[in-house]
Amino acid sequence: MKILVTGGAGFIGSHTVVELQQAGMDAVVVDNLCNASEKSLQRVEAITGKKVPFYKTDILDREGLERIFSTEKIDAVIHFAGLKAVGESVQKPWEYYQNNITGTLTLVDVMRKHGVKNIIFSSSATVYGNPAFIPITEECPKGQCTNPYGWTKSMLEQILTDIQKADPEWNVILLRYFNPIGAHKSGTIGENPNGIPNNLMPYITQVAVGKLKELGVFGNDYSTPDGTGVRDYIHVLDLAAGHVKALKMIEEKAGLKIYNLGTGVGYSVLDMVKNFEDATGVKIPYVIRDRRPGDIDACYADASLAKEELGWEAQYGIKEMCADSWRWQKNNPNGYED
Ligand code: NAD
Ligand code: UFG
Repeated sequence: MKILVTGGAGFIGSHTVVELQQAGMDAVVVDNLCNASEKSLQRVEAITGKKVPFYKTDILDREGLERIFSTEKIDAVIHFAGLKAVGESVQKPWEYYQNNITGTLTLVDVMRKHGVKNIIFSSSATVYGNPAFIPITEECPKGQCTNPYGWTKSMLEQILTDIQKADPEWNVILLRYFNPIGAHKSGTIGENPNGIPNNLMPYITQVAVGKLKELGVFGNDYSTPDGTGVRDYIHVLDLAAGHVKALKMIEEKAGLKIYNLGTGVGYSVLDMVKNFEDATGVKIPYVIRDRRPGDIDACYADASLAKEELGWEAQYGIKEMCADSWRWQKNNPNGYED
């Protein structure tokens, strides 16, 4: 199978390209590098020993996409490309809707013109809003998103669902990721946020490496066991493996499928600090700050549907996630700039 990986130079994309190549599939990457470095793909090549054909192209560039689909015989698309900074999306809603929604509409249009009707889409637990119940099953109703980024995911799920309903030749798998962390065991590829990280784990690793002074814990009065926010952290290698399983399902005809990809276990912010310290031996100073607007108390998955139907289950525990995030950060204090 030849897979076009949009956003394949990014965090989850680069790890998925490794997994695809190691599973004997051909991966072709399209990325405009707006939030990534081409170095990630050179490092993927060093890990797998295989070339990664790369097109530096924007998914909004219809002619560029046409050229890729005319040159490569693509069987399926894994669609990671998108803007993902929650706070920025509140400041720049037009840019987020344009990039994520128009970009996906353009991609899907070019796909169908070339008879490629298989897509795996990166969705997010954010579509559940403040979840009606936890652990969250796929049956949990979608909720009110608190930012334009979240709405792009929710809307794109609906758009892809409608496209599949209208033309059952499509296979559409919507994967709702919980909180991806960790990095490849080599310590050569990982998450490379621009500027000060918004997400918890890269913030912790930057405190650990001495780039940031202390962690701000956003609120300790949530209705959780220790008052800090609870999330379902999942190793990026497990997520990557989930995409390979989803491709196998597409080969056998998937129709429309939706899966949560999480571990089913929730950890609070303070649990994460403790686990990181235990796994790495590095102390993380922290202070309690105000709640961050839009944050919810707790969010963790019931991932049993993915286990039953995809035969996928998270393999890595929290200590390994922390140790692997740390190895990447320690070896590359400035990400791909080093
Ligand atoms: P990332 O920013 O590292 O990867 C996204 C990639 O898409 C980047 O390499 C970027 O350069 C590229 N890109 C963006 N717009 C593009 C465009 N118009 N044309 C071509 N390339 C473009 O992010 P990630 O963490 O690897 O996330 C991958 C996907 O998973 C995203 O769709 C994201 O919304 C989704 N997701 C991420 C998380 C998370 O916490 N990391 C959680 C749930 C869902
Ligand atoms: N947190 C802190 N301090 C920080 C950063 C985060 O205390 O400096 C806390 C948050 O308040 C939250 C937890 O750590 O309780 C996790 O926060 P993240 O920003 O790492 O992750 P979120 O759960 O807020 O959101 C992430 C992605 C979303 C995605 C969602 C899916 O940013 O895009 O996971 O569950 F939709």
